[in-house]
Amino acid sequence: IPVDTFDLVLFGATGDLARRKILPSLFHRYKIGQFDKTCRVIGASRSVLTQDGFRDLVTEALQTYGHPDDTNSTDIAAFVSLLDYVAIDAKGDDGWTDLAEHLRPDVVQAFYLSVAPSLFADIAGRLKSKKIATADSRIVVEKPFGHDLASAKALNAALGAHFEEHQIYRIDHYLGKETVQNLMALRFANSLFEPLWNSSQIDHVQITVAESIGVEGRGEYYDRSGAMRDMVQNHLMQLLCLTAMEPPARFTPNAVRNEKLKVIEALEPVAQDEIARGQYRASAEGGDGYLDHAGDPNSKTESFIAMKVKVANWRWNGTPFYLRTGKCLRARESEIAVFFRAPPHNIFDAGKPVAGNVLVIRLQPDEGITLHTTIKDPGPGGMRLTTAKLDMTFADSLPEAGRPQDAYERLIMDVIRGNQTLFMRGDEVEAAWNWADPLIKGWNDAGTAPQSYDQGSSGPEDSLLLMHRDNRRWREIST
Ligand code: BG6
Repeated sequence: IPVDTFDLVLFGATGDLARRKILPSLFHRYKIGQFDKTCRVIGASRSVLTQDGFRDLVTEALQTYGHPDDTNSTDIAAFVSLLDYVAIDAKGDDGWTDLAEHLRPDVVQAFYLSVAPSLFADIAGRLKSKKIATADSRIVVEKPFGHDLASAKALNAALGAHFEEHQIYRIDHYLGKETVQNLMALRFANSLFEPLWNSSQIDHVQITVAESIGVEGRGEYYDRSGAMRDMVQNHLMQLLCLTAMEPPARFTPNAVRNEKLKVIEALEPVAQDEIARGQYRASAEGGDGYLDHAGDPNSKTESFIAMKVKVANWRWNGTPFYLRTGKCLRARESEIAVFFRAPPHNIFDAGKPVAGNVLVIRLQPDEGITLHTTIKDPGPGGMRLTTAKLDMTFADSLPEAGRPQDAYERLIMDVIRGNQTLFMRGDEVEAAWNWADPLIKGWNDAGTAPQSYDQGSSGPEDSLLLMHRDNRRWREIST
């Protein structure tokens, strides 16, 4: 369905995220006809560039980072003809009048701040004081949304001084991933799962976001964040919320976000001995270790973290959620695995346990859903049990749907549509920091260093022990 005509101003238009993700996503949506030539994308940044210079830069970005199906030069040329450029000083007066002149009063207006958070207040303030933004404009901000509770509050206050909450779109790109939304469809559009979705039926849940890449090129940012701030406080938290939340009464932005907030507020503080932090070491083959990029040879920042999280409410009492994420692991693999309790009694072989079912929701790669079931081994030898998978890969089940949308494609179009469901509300972000801050303070105060782990492994020994202590095991991260 085509979206309304818009003017999208992209601050930080020459930056990495804009070139890698935002512009290729916009291009793809244009190519498939979701918006037409009446729309404008206005690049804005400090660099002094002509309109043609900007169009050349975007052409190159699309050729480099666009999807392999999106390389047709006629299509690219058509898309870049929608682009304009304004050189602007976020902290001064230059460029703002020029920007105002580019904007049309009668179309959807969105300002996308793909810039450092330290510029949010400057840009938001000028958009308002120079009377560029209106009461209907949308403002989009990227993570990191704060470094801790105090800085997140300051950012919320800075944006809130000029824009209403319903105008603010805080991106967590995990919410734009196809399977993440499918998690809500699975839970709330099927009657099969929801009656089982509680601690009497679910033994535990494992949420894994494993990455095979390291921190090359981002060492300086990453070293100030670590896996906790970079991934857990936002992306894994969102996955946890969607898995654990109560059914909202309807699929509206605030109904969904109210339920997510309740999950975050129900989280118990995590004891330090239920957290395993790791840092990848240099590989035997000479591959750089974390410390080669951190900028601090003694850095104690974690590139891996695992923890046991408890959602202290009626539904989840007694069902731990184990979270883990890290860099330079065996494979890029993200999933939510729901472990159902084992059958109470084995009628086939008394005394021997039967494995519980495991429902795996795969985020990437190979988006899909698998249910591990116990069946009769079809071979000879009587009633022997074995496990088999009920498997659905979305790409195979729905081939006509084509390739799944990139998260940014969906999210940017939702901004234009004015739908905030897949964006974080200010109070959600603050609640997540409120939970994360004491954990970070805990290991900083204790001065504990992360345990080193091999590249290509599934993380440090402590992560395995975290599970072992509870008589459980992580699912394998496969190659
Ligand atoms: C970003 C983090 O938000 O998400 C990165 O800053 C991480 O460190 C990335 O690599 C992972 O996103 P995806 O979509 O590749 O899983």
